[in-house]
Amino acid sequence: MSQSPSFAVISGAQVHRAVSGREEQITRIVEAAYRLHGEGRTVNPDSYFLRFPDRPSSRIIALPASVGGEVDVHGIKWISSFPENVAAGIPRASAVLILNDTATGYPFACLESSIISAARTAASAALAAVELSARRGVRPTRVGFFGVGLIARYLHTYLAGNGLEFESLGVHDLSAEHAEGFKGYLERTERGQITVHDKPEDLIRSSDLVVFATVAGEPHVLDPAWFAHNPLVLHVSLRDLSPEIILSSYNVVDDVEHCLKANTSPHLAEQRVGHRDFVAGTLYDVLTDKITPPADQPVIFSPFGLGVLDLAVARHVYDQVQANGDLQTVPEFFHEMKRYG
Ligand SMILES: NC(=O)c1ccc[n+]([C@@H]2O[C@H](COP(=O)([O-])OP(=O)(O)OC[C@H]3O[C@@H](n4cnc5c(N)ncnc54)[C@H](O)[C@@H]3O)[C@@H](O)[C@H]2O)c1
Repeated sequence: MSQSPSFAVISGAQVHRAVSGREEQITRIVEAAYRLHGEGRTVNPDSYFLRFPDRPSSRIIALPASVGGEVDVHGIKWISSFPENVAAGIPRASAVLILNDTATGYPFACLESSIISAARTAASAALAAVELSARRGVRPTRVGFFGVGLIARYLHTYLAGNGLEFESLGVHDLSAEHAEGFKGYLERTERGQITVHDKPEDLIRSSDLVVFATVAGEPHVLDPAWFAHNPLVLHVSLRDLSPEIILSSYNVVDDVEHCLKANTSPHLAEQRVGHRDFVAGTLYDVLTDKITPPADQPVIFSPFGLGVLDLAVARHVYDQVQANGDLQTVPEFFHEMKRYG
């Protein structure tokens, strides 16, 4: 190699410029990554959870992955979750993502990645909402947001960006301040009726699309009867629902092996019954019409969150920033390049 490989740093502001207002396009990128994953053209090992004995609510997760096809990149997302940050006035999650060249293995970019992570999470859930609703033949018009931080805001943006329109929007959060803040955000962007529900049961019973984006570590919604109206549930925070609710619903995940781990609600359900028969299939199975979600049962989408989605979106951001001539490389980042000096 005659020239040293380059290394770029992409800021959150650059990422934001590359993704904001492009919800449909990012959703197509996420869908393409799911298809590559379903076709076996990705590598997505287990996420690694770094936890702290003196701070059990916090964690940092490593998500290494590789995506083939046109994306053609290896890499890793390294994302912290420190829920106490919110009270201190900064977001819960912070992240960086490294992209590696598939020919040489060299890392060639480090991207601020909390935005990429939120965008791919929202795009994945919006994709599921659109595809599952269409196949059930039920268009949701009443959405309920259960837990309303940054992820709920991105979810709302991506649902709207993918053409979903709501007559009513419900909000529930343990914190009245967060609920009011989110209601204020919705009022600036929505024309539908907006209601804050103090009781979780009221939110669920009055919504045909329910979005869970709390930071709950164990199930706090326990009664299957609250879901008797057969809503579509985007269970993004993964640990809110009791095994009974999971077992009485039609379950779609992003990846079975990944999702039935780390004490997610589907994992707890598996531990309860000793099998996985309650998982109908994956979102890829839905996209390829291998499974058809019913209208007469609650449908729950539980996405563990795959590193391949982060890489696909990050690759797109890198290409955009490069095409705009805005790539900021670090001079002499790789220095010891001559074998014998
Ligand atoms: N599956 C995925 O791929 C994926 C990706 C990213 C984030 N997430 C998850 O999304 C969740 C939300 O992330 P965020 O950044 O918006 O967090 P956040 O801390 O900004 O917001 C979470 C909100 O939930 C509320 N809340 C907590 N427990 C609650 C409960 N029991 N009932 C009602 N409200 C409750 C909090 O008051 C807060 O307003 C996290 O659990 C995160 O792990 C999942």
